[in-house]
Amino acid sequence: MKIIIDTKENIASLASDQFINLLKRKPNAVLGLATGSTPIDTYKQIIKKAKEQNISFKDVKTFNLDEYVNYPFYEASYRFFMDDNLFNHVDINKENTHFPSHENYLDYDNQIKACGGVDLQILGIGANGHIGFNEPNTPFDSLTHVTDLQRKTIEDNARFFSSIDEVPTKAITMGLTTIMNSKEIILIALGENKADAIKALVDNVGVSCPASILNGHDNVTIYCDKAAASKL
Ligand code: GLP
Repeated sequence: MKIIIDTKENIASLASDQFINLLKRKPNAVLGLATGSTPIDTYKQIIKKAKEQNISFKDVKTFNLDEYVNYPFYEASYRFFMDDNLFNHVDINKENTHFPSHENYLDYDNQIKACGGVDLQILGIGANGHIGFNEPNTPFDSLTHVTDLQRKTIEDNARFFSSIDEVPTKAITMGLTTIMNSKEIILIALGENKADAIKALVDNVGVSCPASILNGHDNVTIYCDKAAASKL
């Protein structure tokens, strides 16, 4: 596991380079994508570099990590987030963009496999160590599944809604094994409220910090700003 400590700006630049270099090597790459505030700058840089360097997304396939169940309005969905922050700004075919749902989740891992597996997965991390919506104590052998969000996650995500009562309490997420099946993984952590989760990840504490499963993967880069790395 490589750990890189740098500024927020440099992290977005380095992480976006990993995507751009992959697309240069493999124009039909399969990307694993994340929502949340953390990857937004990386997506901005990907859009900018794809334009400047004439990189096409027309053969790219994407699988998002997770989606809310019963989101109260379309703009609260992770589909909207991805359209707004990435898909609407590149030449991707929306039919090649996938989100887990009640209808498809039992087949989601098979769909990923059928496309050849995720080449590069980007992750954020929850303050409680969750990745995707795999909350603490999710079994490491989990595949895509429906999950109840923990109170801490609902509180953390309330900033995207007008009141905490609007935050969905259930989501569908790739499992921890689904994530581990990716060929390469980038995790980005920004800010002091991620410092405990990053320490638990690096200390490899086990199921109480779901992200610590990444210690068992042979191609992971963890990008932290100074604040997120402050407890290492
Ligand atoms: C949500 C998402 C995660 C994300 C996390 C952190 O729970 N399901 O994929 O990593 O939020 O969000 P943020 O990047 O806004 O801190």
